[in-house]
Amino acid sequence: MRAHRSLVGVLVLLAACGGGVDGTPGAAGVRDPYFPKAGNGGYDVAHYDLDLGYEPRTRHLSGTATLTARATQDLSALNLDLEGLDVERVTVDGAEARWNRAGQELTVRPRDEVERDRTFRLTVRYSGTPLTLTDPDGSEEGWLATADGALALGEPVGSMAWFPGSHHPSDKATYAVSVTVPKGLRAVSNGEPAGQETRGGRTTWSWRAGEPMASYLATVAIGRYDIARTRTAGGLPVLTAVDPEQREASRGALAELPRVLDWAERRFGPYPFSTAGAIVERPEDSGYALETQSRPVLPGAPDTGLLVHELAHQWYGNSVTPRSWRDMWLNEGFATYAEWLWREDHGGDTAQQTFDALYAGEHFADAESDAALWSFPPADPPDAARLSDLPVYWRGAMVLHKVRQKVGDAAFFELLRGWAATHRHGTADTADFTAYVELRAPDHDFTAIWSQWLHGDGKPPHP
Ligand code: TRP
Ligand code: ZN
Repeated sequence: MRAHRSLVGVLVLLAACGGGVDGTPGAAGVRDPYFPKAGNGGYDVAHYDLDLGYEPRTRHLSGTATLTARATQDLSALNLDLEGLDVERVTVDGAEARWNRAGQELTVRPRDEVERDRTFRLTVRYSGTPLTLTDPDGSEEGWLATADGALALGEPVGSMAWFPGSHHPSDKATYAVSVTVPKGLRAVSNGEPAGQETRGGRTTWSWRAGEPMASYLATVAIGRYDIARTRTAGGLPVLTAVDPEQREASRGALAELPRVLDWAERRFGPYPFSTAGAIVERPEDSGYALETQSRPVLPGAPDTGLLVHELAHQWYGNSVTPRSWRDMWLNEGFATYAEWLWREDHGGDTAQQTFDALYAGEHFADAESDAALWSFPPADPPDAARLSDLPVYWRGAMVLHKVRQKVGDAAFFELLRGWAATHRHGTADTADFTAYVELRAPDHDFTAIWSQWLHGDGKPPHP
């Protein structure tokens, strides 16, 4: 009787596995504290292959996104983030899959369940007029129509307006992007150029970003651009794409770009990607700068501070990426501190002077900005609308300066480099940062810095 019962059990178990009914749906989001629906559970994307066509005249985009991903659970269904556009066909490992949509969630039900740890290939064919999204902070992202083409900007969640994916910074992947546009226009993206081909009045421009990239850092810029290539003194390839209207105005800044990179490598360690550069748009086309990976988007000719800021993000933000949007200060505090360091290293104010002026309320011309600086702690923004507010940038930089005061210059610059090296091409959160500092500088007590400057409400008491 006993033997018989366990035999039945085994048979039931076998039937369940064979029938493939034990998988569960992957989660619709990764519980980001500010964007709970961003990203998806149950799988990790390793690579995106985006094959796009765009017609600026009609603003029509057509695309096939091929994701290579690994299941992290037995999956009966999985979600992708996609806002707007029409889905035409979805396949999983070549087999037609059922799908449905609700808000930004595209739910895919593969014909056969995907077993945990298996790598699978998912394709989505889609088309339509991509949306421009308005951020919680009121700025525009997603797909922006420009004077002569279009521009994709993805921070924090705009990339879901132009390709389906797991749109959360915790899931980084490599990318191959091809964009077919009317002959005479160009398409520029992240990473290295990977060929061009003109056929029947249309040109396909291919790009490859071979190092892990968060989806908010992916970009496509379509239009007329002057392309220039050079190298830094250290030998790093630099490719810039400049709207011809901005050619004269941006000449000086672009000549400076290789030198800024050489300086940044001395301060932050080896540049984390195989190529660098910039995309210079007309100011009215983008409105703000974004540190898109390897090739930041600049709204017109940048001043040196902005150039330093966006290039510093390649280390801090792009290579070491925040694990959630709460960790935004790890991007903006570091990039802002890079601006202070540049000034200090080039005969301007020292970082100490910048810090002192901020603390004294003498840095900003208006009392409003001064009050805003102390309105919340950098590591705990109160809501999504305030992720890009002053405390994240400036008070975030002040946190780093407090660490520098504590450990001294030599140890501090070692920390800056070591942080970038330790989490290179990965993700990290605020607790990783404080643990890293404590590990590398065990003789110091950082409790007050963390509790007052990083996490504390209000203006911390001086030293
Ligand atoms: N990260 C950009 C920069 O500092 C600014 C930015 C653009 C931003 N879009 C955003 C910040 C959305 C927060 C949220 O160069
Ligand atoms: Zn920034």
